[in-house]
Amino acid sequence: MSGATPQTGPLRHFLQFRDLSRTEIQYVLDRTRLIKNKFKRYEPHHTLHDRNLAMVFEKASTRTRVSFEAGMYQLGGSVIHLTTGDSQLGRAEPIEDTARVISRMVDVIMIRTFEQTRIERFAAHSRVPVINGLTNEFHPCQILADIFTFIEHQGPIEGKTVAWIGDSNNMAYTWLQAAEILGFNLHVSAPAGYQLDAKRIGTPAPSVLQEFADPMEACRGAHLVTTDVWTSMGYEAENEERRHAFADWCVDAEMMAVADPSAIFMHCLPAHRGEEVTGDVIDGPQSVVWDEAENRLHVQKALMEFLLLGRIA
Ligand code: CP
Ligand code: NVA
Repeated sequence: MSGATPQTGPLRHFLQFRDLSRTEIQYVLDRTRLIKNKFKRYEPHHTLHDRNLAMVFEKASTRTRVSFEAGMYQLGGSVIHLTTGDSQLGRAEPIEDTARVISRMVDVIMIRTFEQTRIERFAAHSRVPVINGLTNEFHPCQILADIFTFIEHQGPIEGKTVAWIGDSNNMAYTWLQAAEILGFNLHVSAPAGYQLDAKRIGTPAPSVLQEFADPMEACRGAHLVTTDVWTSMGYEAENEERRHAFADWCVDAEMMAVADPSAIFMHCLPAHRGEEVTGDVIDGPQSVVWDEAENRLHVQKALMEFLLLGRIA
């Protein structure tokens, strides 16, 4: 017996992007299209009727909280929201005990936390699917939404080029996993000292990856230019030092001009205009950041359905 409702298949988690195979990602993206279309037509889609989602936030959030919470209600289920401060996690209850307890009471759990090992420990003691809502190492739900958004605007992503400009953070490493699974090229440009860690990406580096010292070169010919904050949550102590190091890694109109003429711009948000991106780019005609944010809702509904129900014929 697992959680509030018996699982219909083997227990699956989504702790990093590669936890889903290429065909499973394709299924989730196809299902997202159907769910989004129904949402736009105001058609009910209650495939998770009476199911309960627990969300555990150990870091701040706007999009992740609202998209998971609204999404679960739209699927006919309900939601419990926990933070470190208002739960016993803030009083040092072990993460393993928290997982054992919550997963006997709900059907699916989303966590936003610090180290990837923390969510892995949680999942190892959970009886129900666990979803990564962001860790220091990965942000897989965001990349699912970004890929769905890319396909909506640019068509199939296979063989295309994505340029990542800025910090080698949770988003960058998740883009790399996606590029390997889905077969697109990833150009990365980060300042010295903030480049991808060879120990994490392996040697030789994946063939889909090309690293550039000059961000302009990384953008050349790209179908998507994307970036993120210079300082991620949990690294605030490095803020000043990063502001100096990243000064030339601001996505601006010149970088967009060397990208493919059809290129779009994405940012997972929240954004800092004048730091990692100029206002004219993020608020300009090539930017799809609001579609990208909205698509978190639709992909996560498809993801929760898949983890709980498997493929729906
Ligand atoms: N992009 C994203 O995950 O946003 P939040 O931090 O607001 O959830
Ligand atoms: N890289 C950022 C993403 C925020 C959604 C962070 O981890 O803070």
